Amino acid sequence: MCSQFQSETDTEIFAHLIQNALDKATVNSECDFIAVVQEALLPIEGNYALGILNVQYPDQLLFIRQGSPLIIGLGDDACFAASDIPAILSYTRRMLVLEDGDIAQLTRKGVLVYNSNGDEVQRPISTISWDPIRAEKGGYPHFMLKEIHEQPRAISDTLAGRLSSEQGRVYFETAFVPDDIILNIDRVLIIACGTSFHAGLTSCYDYERILGIPTSAEFASEFRYRNPILNDKTLVIAISQSGETADTLAAVDLAKQKGATVLSVCNMIESTIVRASDYVIYTHAGPEISVASTKAFVTQLVSLQLILLYIGKNRGILRKKELQTLTQDLLHLPTVASNLLSSEQQIQHIARRYAYAQNMLYLGRDIHYPLAMEGALKLKEISYIHAEAYPAGEMKHGPIALIDKDVPVFFIIHASSVREKVIANMEEIKARDGKIIALTLPQDEEVKRVADHVIEVPSISPHVDSILLSIPLQLFAYYVAVHRGTDVDQPRNLAKSVTVE
Ligand code: G6P
Repeated sequence: MCSQFQSETDTEIFAHLIQNALDKATVNSECDFIAVVQEALLPIEGNYALGILNVQYPDQLLFIRQGSPLIIGLGDDACFAASDIPAILSYTRRMLVLEDGDIAQLTRKGVLVYNSNGDEVQRPISTISWDPIRAEKGGYPHFMLKEIHEQPRAISDTLAGRLSSEQGRVYFETAFVPDDIILNIDRVLIIACGTSFHAGLTSCYDYERILGIPTSAEFASEFRYRNPILNDKTLVIAISQSGETADTLAAVDLAKQKGATVLSVCNMIESTIVRASDYVIYTHAGPEISVASTKAFVTQLVSLQLILLYIGKNRGILRKKELQTLTQDLLHLPTVASNLLSSEQQIQHIARRYAYAQNMLYLGRDIHYPLAMEGALKLKEISYIHAEAYPAGEMKHGPIALIDKDVPVFFIIHASSVREKVIANMEEIKARDGKIIALTLPQDEEVKRVADHVIEVPSISPHVDSILLSIPLQLFAYYVAVHRGTDVDQPRNLAKSVTVE
């Protein structure tokens, strides 16, 4: 007999299904209860992670997952369950990640895990090295500002133990894509969402320029809905801070079905995307709490550079001298990034001036265009100002119609072969009374002459400068949002981890 119930909340369906199954079954023990729960959930399609408490068995909590993240924390005298690591990091660093279909039974005695067949199984326990203090604000008014300031250390942590500048070599602590695959690939395809997509798009320029391998980046949410052409010569790099983004996960599955090798770049140990991929490089950003991603973004850029160097060496594209120079450039990053953070007050001042703009444009050419996209995304995410990024050369095909004294334009004009052309674009804005903020090289007198405000960023080398340029973009968005009084760390309508389509 099929019972009927009414509900306006999809999660209530689970409670009804379980209750229906209990009404029909003979439940004499906790084990019977677990079996009934598993049976009851069989008809469910889609992703879920559930915590289940039954009044008849008040001494136990059940946790079950399918597709959605769920981790169990193991404390000295308590157990915890959460969807991500930072939530329980101040209680324990020992974590166990459930597989799809697993059900964990938490009691006073500890945790037992059963697989979808009802057999008791042992899942590996990981010890998270993150310091719980790093998941707290530590005197900063917002997590976002703290995380911006943590970037020099996050970059160091991501490089630590992975580079030898004398040898010009890169080492990874996890198994990396084997040489026969590296030699065989004829294309790199980067898939990701949000800020992680911008890290991928930025890296495409260097992968093509330095490695000479055709490289493109695609929104995972688009990739999965077309019929992408890939094969066993395609290296797919999936980038995700959380490792749980539903669209990126689905894109990884699709890429694997089509025979590609999937390497993920991820911040979350043992996350779903990591486990679905063939290989992983961890970004060591530490816990990122603010919804707007900052330190995860720069460590993604650093990790993509490490992958580039590894491929360049193992394909024989980069010689020792070039590798030595490129590794040295990366090693300089933490110090230069630290110095850059000292220009914060100036950025705060400019941000105050434009805090009440209604629209903003971000323009750049070449590798600075994806950075413009990231700058615009940061601003709209947390300040709710409509911000749009355009390749500076496309301005004349539409956006220039928007320019007047009330539309500030943020230019990224740094070390690049197209600098002169961008200056010409700046002049066009100036001629229409537009206000210009320029992120540029120190002492660029020509830019200073045209721009209303200049934020100077030193250059280490074009292949790592994007990492430095990200920092003022983040600070600008942050201070605009603070002036507007928005909820910086938890902007409206946004989530840190998007585990639904
Ligand atoms: C959400 C977050 C963004 C993030 C994006 C992708 O939209 O708010 O900050 O960039 O998801 O997340 P991922 O964890 O896959 O990098």
